[in-house]
Amino acid sequence: MVNISVLVSGGGTNLQAIIDNIESGELSGARIVQVISSREGVFSLERAAKAGIKGKVAKDTKQLLEQLAAENTDLIVLAGYMKVLEPEVIGAYRRRILNIHPSLIPKYCGKGFYGKRVHQAVLDGGETVSGATVHFVDEGVDTGEIILQRQVPVEPDDTADTLAARVLETEHVILSEGIKKVMAQLPEKGGL
Ligand code: GAR
Repeated sequence: MVNISVLVSGGGTNLQAIIDNIESGELSGARIVQVISSREGVFSLERAAKAGIKGKVAKDTKQLLEQLAAENTDLIVLAGYMKVLEPEVIGAYRRRILNIHPSLIPKYCGKGFYGKRVHQAVLDGGETVSGATVHFVDEGVDTGEIILQRQVPVEPDDTADTLAARVLETEHVILSEGIKKVMAQLPEKGGL
């Protein structure tokens, strides 16, 4: 079993998609050992509790590293995690940290591009296509190697909200696909 720690900061629809895909067998060979939030009181923690998964809040990097080690974490999935991980965390889990980003990286990513802002920028840029990207996390912001990307059309009457909703549906699919791809390449499975 691959032990996944999911890091969150908000509502957690991507977390829910992973939980559902594990439960349905769509994503097999993995279990979520804990959900770690960057802040208290987020709905993601309720989703974790409902699914019988431990929920924690990490107040700093030291605590986060302790929590990750305590559950023998193999993979870290950032699912709407709005903090930038310190290099210590990246170094300890090189090529074992995945992030989902709501655009076609390298477009509309990096510092300041998160959540709704990404979709507004896509609309302001006059794009006809957007999408979502699963990538490894390195020391930069959204600069790590791309694992998987999928396009989503931008409709002429889109608002940031309608575009966000369409992209989110795709995120829910490709995040689990990306996890599967990385799981198959783990050194303990003979990969990398
Ligand atoms: C998702 O759209 C995710 O791609 C985005 O935040 C949303 C979280 O939604 N992440 C970023 O913008 C990271 N730069 P969720 O909490 O419902 O999964």
